[in-house]
Amino acid sequence: MSATAPKRAPMPDDIRARKGGVPLVSLTAYTTPMAELMDGVCDFVLVGDSVGMVLHGLPSTLGVTMEMMILHGQAVARGLHSSMMVVDMPFGSYEQSRELAFANAARIMAETGAGAVKLEGGVEMADTIAFLVVRGIPVMAHIGLTPQSINTLGGYKVQGRGDAGEQLLADAQAVSDAGAFAVVLEKVPQNLADDITARIAIPTIGIGASAGCDGQILVVDDMLGLFTAFKAKFVKRYAHLGDDARAAVSAYADEVRARKFPAVEHVFGDAAPEAKS
Ligand code: KIV
Repeated sequence: MSATAPKRAPMPDDIRARKGGVPLVSLTAYTTPMAELMDGVCDFVLVGDSVGMVLHGLPSTLGVTMEMMILHGQAVARGLHSSMMVVDMPFGSYEQSRELAFANAARIMAETGAGAVKLEGGVEMADTIAFLVVRGIPVMAHIGLTPQSINTLGGYKVQGRGDAGEQLLADAQAVSDAGAFAVVLEKVPQNLADDITARIAIPTIGIGASAGCDGQILVVDDMLGLFTAFKAKFVKRYAHLGDDARAAVSAYADEVRARKFPAVEHVFGDAAPEAKS
């Protein structure tokens, strides 16, 4: 199995066609340099509304706006050529009506160049998903722990345990039937994630779900160890960049205070360098 993605950016149909195949690879990104690091390695990159918590210090994703999603979507788009970009629809931009959802999804697609949008919700959002899809907007669904609903879910708990598993299965079936090309399963028990994956026609993308999903996604700042305010059980840190950055900032501060930085190689003399002939 190789770590490379196709040369041209996949389209939603390419992602859908990967059902049951080599697992899909995805991370979030919010900036051009981070997108460049993932380009061609991830099959798709999500401009997640987690941007609000990760980059803007918000306490939840509820305060994220259309303008934030579009600005970060445009930044990520500049760094991607071989991976598809999906942009999250922020809280309040799609729930009220199918028409509002279309207007905002169309704006995101037009202003960022995204290949698809993602929205949270199962059975209750199926009509909206179908409305968008028949009008040319590919939709990735997101069920299980849906962070935009933390106030009604009662926090960031595992979803679908016990009898609630039936509802989650119905949600997965509904978004698949409505025309979503993939569905994120967040923080659901492994057996349930495997069951959903076996039963629905579209790829499941797990985050805190199961290695048996059709793909995986993580928040990039979590997996790089940059976001250290807390660590969810489902996060694996593949690097510890936050610790490295803290050490670098301290080393810089010490050297500035000791007049060790800038050193001779960082400063300029009076004479211009001799021209090379
Ligand atoms: O906003 C986000 O980062 C997400 C992923 C966690 C799936 O929705």
